[in-house]
Amino acid sequence: MDYEATGSAALAAIAAAPDLAAIEALRVALLGKKGSISALLKTLGAMDAEQRHSQGPRIHALREAVTEALGARKAALDAAALAARLARESVDLTLPAPERAGGSVHPVSQVMDELAEIFADLGFSVATGPEIEDDWHNFTALNMPESHPARAMHDTFYFPDRDGAKNDEGGREMLLRTHTSPVQIRTMLAVSAKEPGGAPLRVIAPGRVYRSDSDATHTPMFHQIEGLVIDRGIHLGHLKWTLKTFLAAFFEREDIVLRLRPSYFPFTEPSVEVDTGYSWQDGRRVVGGSGDAPGHGWMELLGSGMVHRKVIAAGGLDPDQWQGFAFGVGVDRLAMLKYGMSDLRAFFDGDVRWLAHYGFAALDVPTLSGGVGTPL
Ligand code: DAH
Repeated sequence: MDYEATGSAALAAIAAAPDLAAIEALRVALLGKKGSISALLKTLGAMDAEQRHSQGPRIHALREAVTEALGARKAALDAAALAARLARESVDLTLPAPERAGGSVHPVSQVMDELAEIFADLGFSVATGPEIEDDWHNFTALNMPESHPARAMHDTFYFPDRDGAKNDEGGREMLLRTHTSPVQIRTMLAVSAKEPGGAPLRVIAPGRVYRSDSDATHTPMFHQIEGLVIDRGIHLGHLKWTLKTFLAAFFEREDIVLRLRPSYFPFTEPSVEVDTGYSWQDGRRVVGGSGDAPGHGWMELLGSGMVHRKVIAAGGLDPDQWQGFAFGVGVDRLAMLKYGMSDLRAFFDGDVRWLAHYGFAALDVPTLSGGVGTPL
């Protein structure tokens, strides 16, 4: 058979193909399942060894040449089409740009950034820890041993293992952290591992926390910011000054009045609940002034205290050498108080109208949240 004649006829047809549809039709006719060259390849099976030896390479060479020609012609047609489009189309730079719906910074991210900035001015750096925690960091090291009633109060999400029983990873149950306090332990352990004698530290730890709880003021996921200061000779006065300074900066008011009430947290001794004075303006609580002033009231804002000796020891530090204070505050609540939202659940609905109303313009400066969705 005259493969060469078949070949040149095919190549001529390919070279003359006027458009992509013609190329595709040729590919099917030549190389498709029922194509002529595919049919030639099938004849090899019926040949004897000698024949196959002489014909095989020629048929394969024919198929290769045709394949290559199809590809080359297709590329040439594509390039010509693109050149024609470029010549035809032009961009009118004087036309107004279509309006793009811009995103906004979520109030929670905004408030976390504000807090990081305020605390940076006070010498605090930002620490992080995992949201999937173990019960040792979340409870035991924070002076809540296994039978401690405070554990039950936390409505913890535990991870069941495959049998549906509680997960037990190397003796530690895994859970979704119920507060940012375990970051205290992780931070102290990191410092004591690096500096065996210990070293002063000042950190805040903002992040997501989880509890099995849901109503107008509780969501199963919410945000806290933890503060921890470890140094020598730290006392309650340092705590009060720090909280007052931070709240004055955050609410942008000089007249923040705090009321410290004795309280109980397993990880602090003494523990203090911190209230702030507020007044009503346009049906909203506005932080500022003494809660005892006429028309004012006190509202509970955060928990804090002097870090318990056992917690300092769990962090690998000597409690006779190092003291500290800690506090924990709800970020969502701070955002609601400062920016006047009333329903916590709306924070996590993802309604773009709510976000457009309460969100913040993104600035061209690096922020803690780094924009939408960056995990802390
Ligand atoms: N972890 C506590 C909670 O989630 C809040 C808290 C209270 C944190 C006192 C602290 C603290 O660091 O000292 O309810």
